[in-house]
Amino acid sequence: MPSRGGRFVVRGGRRLRGEIRVSGAKNAALPMMTSALLTREPVILEGVPDIEDVHTQAALLRSLGATVEWEPAAHRMTIVADTLTGAALPTALAQSVRTSFLCLGPLLARTGTAALSRPGGCNIGERPVNVDVRGLAAMGAEIVQQDGAYIAQTRGLQSAAIYLDYPSVTGTENLMMAACLAEGTTVIKHAACEPEVVALAEHLTRMGAMIHGAGTPKIEVLGRESLYSARSRVIPDRLEAGMFAIAAAITGGDVGIRDVVPEHLDAVTYKLRECGVEVLEYEDRLEVRRRRPLRATEIQAIHYPGFPTDMQAPFAVLMTQAQGTSVIHERVFENRLLYAAEVAKLGARIDVESQVTAHVHGPIRLRGTTVAALDLRCGMALVLAGLAAEGTTVVEGAGHIRRGYEQLPERLVSLGAELEAVA
Ligand code: EPU
Repeated sequence: MPSRGGRFVVRGGRRLRGEIRVSGAKNAALPMMTSALLTREPVILEGVPDIEDVHTQAALLRSLGATVEWEPAAHRMTIVADTLTGAALPTALAQSVRTSFLCLGPLLARTGTAALSRPGGCNIGERPVNVDVRGLAAMGAEIVQQDGAYIAQTRGLQSAAIYLDYPSVTGTENLMMAACLAEGTTVIKHAACEPEVVALAEHLTRMGAMIHGAGTPKIEVLGRESLYSARSRVIPDRLEAGMFAIAAAITGGDVGIRDVVPEHLDAVTYKLRECGVEVLEYEDRLEVRRRRPLRATEIQAIHYPGFPTDMQAPFAVLMTQAQGTSVIHERVFENRLLYAAEVAKLGARIDVESQVTAHVHGPIRLRGTTVAALDLRCGMALVLAGLAAEGTTVVEGAGHIRRGYEQLPERLVSLGAELEAVA
């Protein structure tokens, strides 16, 4: 059983109704925080979610000599990396999150040296970093692996034309940040197009960077001598918005989701509608309700603008309530269907084929029992299953969920769910 951070106890069968505001996006806030390593001047971020991964990233930045001021009520973070006291990340901290590796590009660009261990994060596949390492090597960094750590140095990063073997989100962000302080114009081809990459590019531009093409597969970065102070707002979390949409759908509820960018959720909205869920889109708001039985569908989880891999487990849980057999293909990570065995403990019928395809048979009456959050999105999927299940579902390992969702029990309760966090 995972030991991370207590459990959530969910009593199912309540229809969710009301309005909810979406938090700032974890996967945008973390790289934006790391960008502060590129300048001596303050970086001020608004709308930062109060979640564990943000505090771990803040601890990593502090370990390098940055000061990080956190104002929880305002969700504001001010980071000043005026003088960096080191370029080596503490191993345990670096291994606890994937985004520790985002420090590599900025540290090399700013100080010419960096030492950090292989990053950690959710256990959903191998999660290599070859895209980052090869790209930085093409820019003139010398990177060697020693006892599980990457030791990197450079006499100065140069521009390069880089083709990414895979449009890695972290890889694209790392290279884009490094290129901001490299000499000349760096071209990144086959870049990730995720909204979080665009948000980082816009933030770096506010810091004085010259970036073109973010959001397309070809990004050009004209290096500058230095970057400056900037204040940015973190974009809304599309994955959290999608989670609330599924919570509304799975409980036959009616929820208004505020502070969203509907376009970021296009793939999810399309699939929800295909299954019979009503989704109304407004400028920065969605209304999600379900009045009819759900229909089965097919999902390909792939990079943006495809259906997000992070929504794959929650959607599979929704499909346990749909008429027919849904097919879900995971095409990003090679081990992201582990949740199926946990959802099956609630009575779901999910057949997993070759680790990457799930056949979800429905509709099934789920019945509460004790299950384990194996990672962040698995944990969220289990909470959603608990909302639909008869009786009480206990989700162990709630700490995984706190890594990425702020005040989840309280917010679901505000929509009418019966849910409590237990130590
Ligand atoms: N890949 C490579 N080589 C690399 C890097 C990645 O082959 O050097 C492959 C991976 O094996 C994987 C795929 O590329 O198959 C995607 O990896 P990517 O690097 O794009 O993912 P990431 O940057 O590690 C981010 C999010 C994930 C999200 C993925 C995909 C952050 C902090 N994390 O991860 O979010 O699932 O992109 O969209 O931005 C989560 O929030 O729960 C989460 C896991």
